[in-house]
Amino acid sequence: MTNHRVHFTRSGRTLDIPDDAIILEHALRNGLDLPYGCQGGSCGTCMVAVKGEVFGWGRAISDEDRANGYALICSSYALSDLEIEA
Ligand code: FES
Repeated sequence: MTNHRVHFTRSGRTLDIPDDAIILEHALRNGLDLPYGCQGGSCGTCMVAVKGEVFGWGRAISDEDRANGYALICSSYALSDLEIEA
């Protein structure tokens, strides 16, 4: 397991998130107040702009959004240090 440093630009918080932890769950457990709905990749509420590398799944995001640097953080692992617009 590796931790990645994840900075949330709007909240101004930085967390060390293990690469086997779902980003949204980890952030909520650590007191961040982030928008989410289904937590299952199907509603799109948790979609944010991300700089860095994530492994993501979930059907509420298009290939185009992924290519443009968006991710569903309820359905993503961090694969590098990240900057998340949230
Ligand atoms: S919370 Fe619904 S897609 Fe992430």
